[in-house]
Amino acid sequence: MKIISSIDALRDQLRGQLRTVFVPTMGNLHEGHLSLMRLARKHGDPIVASIFVNRLQFGPNEDFDKYPRTFQADVEKLEKEGVYVLFAPTEKDLYPEPQAFRVSPPDDLGNILEGEFRPGFFTGVTTVVLKLFSCVQPRVAVFGKKDYQQLMMVRNMAKQFALPTEIIAAETWRADDGLALSSRNMYLSADERAEAPSLYAQLQAVADEVRGGHLDIFELERAAMAKLAARGWKPDYISIRKRADLQPPSAGDLAQAEPLVVVAAAKLGRTRLIDNLEI
Ligand code: PAF
Repeated sequence: MKIISSIDALRDQLRGQLRTVFVPTMGNLHEGHLSLMRLARKHGDPIVASIFVNRLQFGPNEDFDKYPRTFQADVEKLEKEGVYVLFAPTEKDLYPEPQAFRVSPPDDLGNILEGEFRPGFFTGVTTVVLKLFSCVQPRVAVFGKKDYQQLMMVRNMAKQFALPTEIIAAETWRADDGLALSSRNMYLSADERAEAPSLYAQLQAVADEVRGGHLDIFELERAAMAKLAARGWKPDYISIRKRADLQPPSAGDLAQAEPLVVVAAAKLGRTRLIDNLEI
């Protein structure tokens, strides 16, 4: 595996490749990331991964400085997955100017859910993804469904900017007890780690109710948040949304069995976890 930090060297290395498949990450790779690499292999060749902890997508009071950086261990994992190039730019390599031009996501998707609780987050994500795409020029890129809104945002951006990159979604990788794998899980204490699967358990309970015909979604959301709060969580939201655009379903949508997803974000101690489940 070639480890490349400069944009020019990356372009030289990938010149002439027409089927590049790309998996962007912020490192601290776990089994969930590796499942993205395995899915990538089915959709193109060579596989290019990136590791870049993107300051632009962190708020001033968020965990940019303490975000886990485990570069050597990550390199070994990517080598085993047959990754051809690891693009690992420094901030100076990627944002030398600094990055004054930024992507401005639409309000109806950018300012709801994660966007409401993490102002500027999707500007940061879409800006770095657009820039990484410009560097790698992939035909296909793989994103995990755990970041459901991010996946939709990247898909919509690729479509609206007519980017020549097809976006593939990978299923969420879960521990045996249901907890979605995330780099932030390592912030959890042993007690918090034992409690953490109850976020997914609440999503399953909500999904079961909806599937069983309980369509008072406001009441379902309220009850699920209250249950988490009673267990010591601080929920930002648990929300039933339309899969198509992440807007709340109308009574008509519910009557017509519009495909739904329940999305959630909640803090356990100092760790903020997100998860979702398609209904
Ligand atoms: O999901 C992530 O790890 C990041 O948001 C991404 C897509 C690599 C952009 O920094």
